[in-house]
Amino acid sequence: MTAKRAGKKKSVLVVGGGGREHTLVWSFRRSPQVGPIFAAPGNAGTAEIAENIPVGPGDIEALVKFARKERVDLTVVGPEAPLAAGIVDRFRAAKLAIFGPTKQAARIESSKIFAKKLALEAGIPTAPAEIFDDFEAAKRYIDISGAPCVVKADGLAAGKGVTVAMTEEEAHAALQRTMAEKEFGAAGERVLVEDYISGEEASILAVTDGERAAVMIPSQDHKRLKDGDGGPNTGGMGAYAPAPVIDGKMLNSITETIIEPAIAALSDSGAPYQGCLYAGLIVDFEGPKLLEFNCRFGDPEVQAMLPLLSDDLYEVCASTAAGKLEFNRFAWRPGAAVSVVAASKGYPGEYERGFAVKGLDEVGKMEDVIVFHAGTAKEDDSVVTAGGRVLAVTALGVNVADAVKRAYDAIGRIKFPGIYYRRDIGQKALARSK
Ligand SMILES: Nc1ncnc2c1ncn2[C@@H]1O[C@H](COP(=O)(O)OP(=O)(O)O)[C@@H](O)[C@H]1O
Ligand SMILES: [Mg+2]
Repeated sequence: MTAKRAGKKKSVLVVGGGGREHTLVWSFRRSPQVGPIFAAPGNAGTAEIAENIPVGPGDIEALVKFARKERVDLTVVGPEAPLAAGIVDRFRAAKLAIFGPTKQAARIESSKIFAKKLALEAGIPTAPAEIFDDFEAAKRYIDISGAPCVVKADGLAAGKGVTVAMTEEEAHAALQRTMAEKEFGAAGERVLVEDYISGEEASILAVTDGERAAVMIPSQDHKRLKDGDGGPNTGGMGAYAPAPVIDGKMLNSITETIIEPAIAALSDSGAPYQGCLYAGLIVDFEGPKLLEFNCRFGDPEVQAMLPLLSDDLYEVCASTAAGKLEFNRFAWRPGAAVSVVAASKGYPGEYERGFAVKGLDEVGKMEDVIVFHAGTAKEDDSVVTAGGRVLAVTALGVNVADAVKRAYDAIGRIKFPGIYYRRDIGQKALARSK
């Protein structure tokens, strides 16, 4: 450990350009071991503390070439698409250290059918589901089993492939779009029709080297656009941590009944999993149940979680990538963090870009407040909007209530035409403490 700290600073390449990737860059910047950080392609926020390189996350060959040329010590992949496409396999073949699962292991996210089978075989608590590759058979099943039910496209669909159907008509319409009209292309050739579960959701992220795992603090995303969980699904409108819906005892049980069995099952299947394993859970009257696995850090969960991490994220990721995770638990700052996403008017539908973002300097000076950029770009000397989710303002506080107050105080000072954010991030935690 000490030998590692001495000597030359390490260089890190973060693949991606959203809020999660700015948060990763920010976290690596805090490590005394880390020198140069590159973001591919990054955003206006990563440009302040790292070097952006004009390579997208899909251009695996260009990323390998860059990592080789710059002798990058560690590459960390943000989004799922390059993982599902095999970026880790390609880097490993080039003898480059990389944090993330192989293509085979990433199927835990890239195929919901693979994940469901694995979960059921491993005895992981999850909703029962039927698998279909035939449209007519799926329709007949819905006629018999009825609603509510959940229709899920098997493959990656950028968060749009799942329909929670409260009526049979909605379920049929979802099947029609997915299997007949092929809205998600090949990702919808097979579907899962799964039982509906009612409860509160939470995210549990674990870091694993394929054998050992260390579980992070529970967090909660806010997927719907509008207050009170109304409106369409989005990439996530805010998050907070720790999420009190998962207490310490429940976290231990999630580790033993969901996280560890999944890691063991992947290992037994010949696809050992390295990286961040994200379990999307719902807690119903029986306890926590698995909704899905993701094969990477959560966005916007990490915008709330990582500012609370006391450990060195470089050590966490580098030891994982080396196959010997040096942590069995993580150290967290006391208190809580709340992250509120500011989006462009119209998101998640059509929106305009190129509006100047004001107030960043003022908010940047506030104590225990961090602005994580997502869809931003630099134009001349100003920061402009360049995406649907523009940025997230994270505030730390002594508890969720304090962090909520501080986050909204801060985001109120950020202005761009059409700025939209939810006003109720963290309210589920506050309701629980009442
Ligand atoms: N079995 C289920 N019962 C109730 N709601 C569900 C169920 N499965 C998924 N959902 C809802 O749909 C959302 C998206 O489903 P998820 O499986 O996480 O897929 P993805 O994130 O890939 O769209 C969940 O966050 C949850 O709100
Ligand atoms: Mg999900």
